Amino acid sequence: MNQVYINQLSQHVGEEVTLKGWLYNLRSSGKLLFPQLRDGTGIVQCVVLKNGIAPEIWDALKSLGQESSLIVRGTVRADERAPGGYELDVSDAQVMQAAHDYPITPKEHGTEFLMDQRHLWIRSRRQHAILKVRHTIVKAVRNFLDNEDFTLCDAPIFTPAACEGTTTLFEVDYFGEDKAYLTQSGQLYNEACAAAFGKVYCFGPTFRAEKSKTRRHLTEFWMVEPEIAYATLDDVMNLCERFLSYIAARVLDERTEELKVLERDTTKLEAIVPPFPRLQYDDAVKLLQEGHERGEIETRFEWGGDFGAPDESFISSKYDKPLMVHRYPAAIKAFYMARDADRPELALGVDVLAPEGYGEVIGGGERATSLDFLREQIALHQLPEESFNWYLDLRRYGSTPHAGFGMGIERCTAWMCGIEHVRETIPFPRMLYRLKP
Ligand code: 4AD
Ligand code: MG
Repeated sequence: MNQVYINQLSQHVGEEVTLKGWLYNLRSSGKLLFPQLRDGTGIVQCVVLKNGIAPEIWDALKSLGQESSLIVRGTVRADERAPGGYELDVSDAQVMQAAHDYPITPKEHGTEFLMDQRHLWIRSRRQHAILKVRHTIVKAVRNFLDNEDFTLCDAPIFTPAACEGTTTLFEVDYFGEDKAYLTQSGQLYNEACAAAFGKVYCFGPTFRAEKSKTRRHLTEFWMVEPEIAYATLDDVMNLCERFLSYIAARVLDERTEELKVLERDTTKLEAIVPPFPRLQYDDAVKLLQEGHERGEIETRFEWGGDFGAPDESFISSKYDKPLMVHRYPAAIKAFYMARDADRPELALGVDVLAPEGYGEVIGGGERATSLDFLREQIALHQLPEESFNWYLDLRRYGSTPHAGFGMGIERCTAWMCGIEHVRETIPFPRMLYRLKP
């Protein structure tokens, strides 16, 4: 049979091979048919000569609809003019299933329609390219952390308590007895694992009941979270820099073709190299206030507020690299954040803001170490202490400074791909108004 994949054709020039795939497009011209076949690894143009093939096969092929599944056999020919550089001269073909009226056609479709057809849309070139980039990012994340001797310790998805505030919790009925919530972040468990293994990460789906309908928010997204015992905020910022630079380099290296399909300006990705600019929250606020005075921003940003998407975009537009904003007011951050010793009203947290208006891709920082302080914070945030008793044990038994961060895979993918919306960066997105297919 000599079955090969389309991305291996260069190694089989002049040979007879079998390709298994789906019909991407079909053109005909008299006694010639030009079916384009895709197989998940690429697209190749096939050439069928009426006289070179059995009449019943010719008849079956000539009326075949887009996305019919078929197996073709033929000889590989190098052709500089062909997209991909190779063509297949077909000697035999077998139609597995003849499809008709494939709903996605080359004409423009609206996004809602395409989202409803997501199970088919992922076959399209652009969607395919985005998900290949995602795959490379996930692989790069794992390689980077594994190479640096982090241990993978995955956190549970059913959790008894909130990690990132109570307003975005998805509640699940857990056998009618206890309340359970879908995890917002594996961080608290990560902290336990870091005390056991030193350097750990968890990597899985996380959930936020976000009522916001923005291009950056999903209700289910994948987050990678490294956590390091004895690390500080500065250590985490250094790690973010190396981590994101590594990911960008892997994407540039492995996804050249896909970045072309996406028409990505790759110079933007080449610029992602250490060092990244670092800015205190105070100074970011000054930038916003100056922007207001110059009339570039309508309302004046007041110290103490949280940055909205337009604020983040404004601040990061001043830089062509990811920007690390640190030392936010503790009042707008999570209960577990450590405080700046000199200015206890500030949390030792950092947000990494991607350039080009992509906003926050990483959030993290140093964790509070004192048992009494955390108890106070848990009460202040009106969290139930009994659910956090196990977490407080980490401060009772060998408490140390430690730090970590979380990166959302979809936001990172949207940025690397240079695309508008996170909904295209995950095979089946879940959003405020989207639970199907
Ligand atoms: O800033 P966040 O909420 O931080 C945490 O959850 C920490 N516990 C992480 C840690 O320190 N271990 O979320 C981290 C990242 C954000 O920067 C963003 O990339 C992504 O998760 N994220 C979302 N992505 C898509 N849709 C949403 N609704 C997201 N919320 C957060
Ligand atoms: Mg955040």
